[in-house]
Amino acid sequence: MDQLKRQAAARALEEVRDGMKLGLGTGSTAKHFVELLGERVRAGLKVVGVPTSEATRADAQRCCVPLTTLDDIDRLDLTVDGADEIDPALDLIKGGGGALLREKIVAAASDRMIVIADDSKWVDALGRYPLPVEVIPFGLAATQRAMRTAFAESEVSGQMAVRKAKDGHVFVTDGGHWIIDAHLGRIRNAARLATLLSAIPGVVEHGLFIGLASTAVLAGAQGIRVVERH
Ligand code: A5P
Repeated sequence: MDQLKRQAAARALEEVRDGMKLGLGTGSTAKHFVELLGERVRAGLKVVGVPTSEATRADAQRCCVPLTTLDDIDRLDLTVDGADEIDPALDLIKGGGGALLREKIVAAASDRMIVIADDSKWVDALGRYPLPVEVIPFGLAATQRAMRTAFAESEVSGQMAVRKAKDGHVFVTDGGHWIIDAHLGRIRNAARLATLLSAIPGVVEHGLFIGLASTAVLAGAQGIRVVERH
């Protein structure tokens, strides 16, 4: 599986050109991309990256990839990031690693987003993977009630759980927020659910990435499949 992730990362690296400003994703697949990019940088490639998490910042620094911020540059040419689920419209569920807020800010500031994954992430419909929703701890129960209403209005339902870290404490994001994982099963209208969740005051951001990915690079036992958004 790790080999497939690295193959997808290597294919995305072929799209990188000298002088590009890059969004650097988070997760085990994106980590391969940062490592391979670092090899190219050390061989002379000139790029600059914006990391989508503190973990990726540390990886990029270790790999000698020069970094900048979205305060210092206007736009990014390309973001390369992983995903938890990818559907045929190239809509995504992201946030399994807890970095969805910065990932979405960076993706939205990019001219292109390439999603890299092993082909187990490809699904007919989003939702089997629990949807991460980043929330403000204040008023948590009120936010969860509003989320339940949003679920009902978009004809989904399921359990919600505040994400815990490995040590058993509540998982805290790089932005100091919490994550609710919503087990919805199958999301028929992801765009509608995304709109409804975004309107809830206690929701900082959600893991539905609608219309952001331009290309998916999927690595499987049969080789690499590149899917473009129509
Ligand atoms: C991080 O918050 C996520 O959005 C990741 O992109 C996603 O979880 C994919 O991670 P893996 O590449 O580790 O599966």
